[in-house]
Amino acid sequence: MTKLTDMTLEQLEDFKAGLEADLELAKGNRVKLDLTRGKPAADQLDLSAPMDHILSGDYRAADGTDVRNYGGLRGLPEARQLGAELMDCAPEQVVCWGNSSLTLMYLTVDTALRFGLWQGERAWNRHAAPKLLAPVPGYDRHFTLTESLDIELVNVTMTDQGPDMDQVEALVRDDASVKGIWCVPKYSNPTGCIYSDEVVERMARLPELAAADDFLVLWDNAYAVHDLEFPPARLAPLMTLAGEAGTADHVVMFGSTSKITYAGAGLGFVAATETVLTTLEQRLGTFSIGPDKVNQLRHVAFLADRLEEHMAAHARLIKPKFDAVEAALREELGPLDVARWTTPKGGYFVSLDTRPGLAGKVAALAAEAGLSLTPPGATFPYGRDPDDRNLRIAPTFASVDDVAVAMQILVLCVKLASAEQELEQRQKR
Ligand SMILES: Cc1ncc(COP(=O)(O)O)c(C=O)c1O
Repeated sequence: MTKLTDMTLEQLEDFKAGLEADLELAKGNRVKLDLTRGKPAADQLDLSAPMDHILSGDYRAADGTDVRNYGGLRGLPEARQLGAELMDCAPEQVVCWGNSSLTLMYLTVDTALRFGLWQGERAWNRHAAPKLLAPVPGYDRHFTLTESLDIELVNVTMTDQGPDMDQVEALVRDDASVKGIWCVPKYSNPTGCIYSDEVVERMARLPELAAADDFLVLWDNAYAVHDLEFPPARLAPLMTLAGEAGTADHVVMFGSTSKITYAGAGLGFVAATETVLTTLEQRLGTFSIGPDKVNQLRHVAFLADRLEEHMAAHARLIKPKFDAVEAALREELGPLDVARWTTPKGGYFVSLDTRPGLAGKVAALAAEAGLSLTPPGATFPYGRDPDDRNLRIAPTFASVDDVAVAMQILVLCVKLASAEQELEQRQKR
C-alpha cells in the first residue's frame, strides 16, 4: 500500500471510491458495535465470583472487629494494607472507603476548594478563579468533576513519558491560581503511557516550585496493577519521593479495585499524609458512619497473596482484544501513514490520533456503519479537542470477535475520511 500523500490523483480517487463501496457494504451488515465502554467484560467479572461466599459466615476482621457493624471510618487495617500495595505507600497513609475512587477524588477536590486540606486558612476558593492542570488527552470524568466545581481546566501536552514537565513547571511557577494537576501515572487514560522516573521525580518537587502554597498533585493510579505483560512495568514511588522532597502534604493518591474485582462493587482508596487524612476523615464523618467493611474483608480474603495471579487472569482475557486493535491499526493504517496510535502494555484504552480535523468525521462515519465511538472531544476539557483528532478506543467490554469487526469498520472510516480530506486539500492547492 502506498502512503496516502504519495498517491497520484487517480490512485487517490480510485482508493476513495473503493472505500465508499466498502462502507456501503459495511452498512448493509447492520451491526451494532461499541468501542466506548471502558469497563470489564462479564468473563472478567466472573473471575471474582469466588469472593461471594469466601467469608462463610465469619465476619471477624484480624483485630476481632465485627465487620457487619458501624464504625472504622478509615477502613479495616487489612484493606488499608491492600490499598498501600496498590498505591505504593504506607498502610497508615491509606483510607479505604466506598466503592469508587472517583467519589474520593470529588471529596478531595471539593474539600481543597471549600475548606482546605491542611486545617488552616489555605482553601482554593480564596482565589477568584482557581485552576487545575489537565494533561491531554485525559480522563473525561476528571474534567466533568472539575468543571462541576467551577474550577477552570488548563490543557497540558501529554508525551509518551507523561505530562510535558517543562510546560507544567512554567505554568505553576508564577501563577498562584494554578492549584494542582490531574495525573493518571500508569497506563494513562487514554494514551496508556507510564510516567517516567524523571517525570515522577519532577512531579514530587512540583508543590515546592509552585507559586500556590496549596498546590496538589492528584495522583489517580486507577491502573496500578492492570498489566498486560509480566513481569509488570514499574512506576516510581511518588509518595516516597515527595517525602524526600518535603512535599508529601501536597500529594493525594487514589486507587480502587473497580477493574480488579467488580466495577460496581469494589473498594475505593485514597492515600495522603496524616494532616490531609485527618481533614478527609472529618469530612467523611459528616455523611458516613463507616464504610462497607464486609466488602473490604471479602476483598482481602480473596486477593491476599494472589493479586498478581488474578491480574494475569484478567490479562489473558483482554490482551487478545488489545492485540486485535493493534493489528488492525498497524496493518490497515500503518502503510498509509494517516494516523498515530498508542500500544499500551496495560490499562483499558488505546488512543488514536487521526489527521487533524477528522475525529468528528470518523466518528460520524462509524456511527452510520453501526459502530459507536467515544464522542470526539471527550478526552479534552470542555469536550473541545483543539485539533479534532483524538479518538479513545476501549476494547475490553466487547468480545474479541466484535473488537475485530469493530476495528475493520474504524480503520475503514479513518481511511475514507483521510482520503476525502487529502483530495479536498489537493483541490485547494
Ligand atoms: C483514570 C481513571 N480513574 C478512575 C476511574 C474510575 O474509578 P472508580 O471506579 O474507582 O471510581 C476510571 C474509570 O474508567 C479511570 O479510567
